[in-house]
Amino acid sequence: MSIAALVVVLVAAGLELGPIADNRQRRSVAVALTGGDPARAPALIRRYGCAGCHTVPGVAGADGKVAPPLADLRERVFIAGVARHTPEALIRWIVAPQSLSPHSAMPATGITEAEARDVAAYLYAN
Ligand code: HEC
Repeated sequence: MSIAALVVVLVAAGLELGPIADNRQRRSVAVALTGGDPARAPALIRRYGCAGCHTVPGVAGADGKVAPPLADLRERVFIAGVARHTPEALIRWIVAPQSLSPHSAMPATGITEAEARDVAAYLYAN
């Protein structure tokens, strides 16, 4: 194989594998940040009613328009405009929004902290 052909193959492989490697890396960072399991999140997002209020990319049935879409969470500087964004603040918000913002319209849904870690992991991985 000529050098030029090899370069073409390597570039094509890089383009093909780049997004997959990115997703894997994002997932492992999300797990490390939260201690949660993103695979459990879609069912939790439906069970606790998040799906009725929020659109969550990649979660079937999560197309609520009541509240902001939960996309690109890892890029946010603030949680709900009130708390500096850290993984612990996101988890705390998901469990008990009024503990950070007493007048927030988002209810405490009864989700446990461990389950909120799973949901936070999903929101960071996607
Ligand atoms: C009754 C509707 C409702 C339900 C159910 C609900 N939320 Fe919310 N959520 C809101 C509203 C309204 C806001 C905006 C709150 C604010 O700014 O005070 C919000 C904000 C958020 C935010 C912050 C978003 C941002 O842009 O900073 C996150 C994260 C979030 N919700 C996650 C969840 C999760 C996870 C669940 C399920 C456990 C859930 N919500 C259930 C209404 C809801």
